[in-house]
Amino acid sequence: MSDVRALRWADAGAGVEILDQTLLPEQEVWLRLGSAAEVASAIRDLRVRGAPAIGIAAAMGLAVEMARHAGLERDEFLRRLDAAYTELAGARPTAVNLRWALDRLRRLADSLGDAGNGVIACKLWGEATAILDEDRAMCRAIGEHAFALLPEPEARVLTHCNAGALATGGIGTALAPLYVGHERGLRLKVYADETRPLLQGSRLTAWELRRAGIDVTILPDSAAAVLMREGVLDLVIVGADRIAANGDVANKVGTYGVAVLARHHGLPFYVAAPTSTIDPHAASGAAIPIEQRDADEVRRGFGRLTAPAEAAVFAPAFDITPAELISAIITERGILRPPYDASIADALALDTAQHPPV
Ligand code: MRU
Repeated sequence: MSDVRALRWADAGAGVEILDQTLLPEQEVWLRLGSAAEVASAIRDLRVRGAPAIGIAAAMGLAVEMARHAGLERDEFLRRLDAAYTELAGARPTAVNLRWALDRLRRLADSLGDAGNGVIACKLWGEATAILDEDRAMCRAIGEHAFALLPEPEARVLTHCNAGALATGGIGTALAPLYVGHERGLRLKVYADETRPLLQGSRLTAWELRRAGIDVTILPDSAAAVLMREGVLDLVIVGADRIAANGDVANKVGTYGVAVLARHHGLPFYVAAPTSTIDPHAASGAAIPIEQRDADEVRRGFGRLTAPAEAAVFAPAFDITPAELISAIITERGILRPPYDASIADALALDTAQHPPV
């Protein structure tokens, strides 16, 4: 089982601590963040990343911010709440978990009416803790459901990016069934796409799987096709940043290509995500905003210039995999199959209060 944690509360209410993922695998450095602005900056810089983890971090950041301001006069306290909400919600656009978590805290604050600032701040802290704890439980449930999809006694699995413990409050989404399988003695051979340009696969997925003693092999993204043709894979499983009502999935750029390859080679292509990643207000993938990253993340790899300094760059952080390429979506509430508009609506029981428009 994974002992990796992406984030935690600092002792004595001193803020949020995150494992700085930009420094992995070379260094394990925990950063202490004492304000919403510091948490938003860590999210923007991918020091904490992965859809569920940024939602949890944002919720904790909002709680920390409001605890700092509990002594302010009421109007000013509420103005700070709005400002922190806006800054955190704007940190990254694609993962819907960010807004989902912040909206939970916002609704709670609104529902408390005339309660004192201290009470509101305290309740926000409790709600952020609940989001963290629930995410841990959701990861475990996803792992249990998805484990049933793995062949026994051996499973050979390709994944893209990092949807593991580093990306969540628990044992991950796409990697959760692998941790569960490992715990139960399943023989595993995991292949991790390195995931250009920021290498979440080789820096993060390989690091956390190796740490748990799971057999992992890294490949350049461009080698996935030949790996599939060689017949050494049973399935592909990835995470998600946002899932539209029709089952289209936004995930790390390159996921769409892997899904096309999986279809061509007759391999099941699974997406694992908590229901907090589903956005019922996005009718299809076309409605999902795709973050564009700085061109220098592509032009300057490995600490040096790897392209002409002024070269034009196309750098979407995510892409959309159409629902028709997805064999199943595994959530904490069970395994969803096509047609996804129906299975997703059932899974959410269309609780729109939990999913206000983003
Ligand atoms: O840019 P990142 O590293 O935040 O992208 C992360 C991903 O694409 C993950 O696959 C996704 O957030 C799911 S994490 C459980």
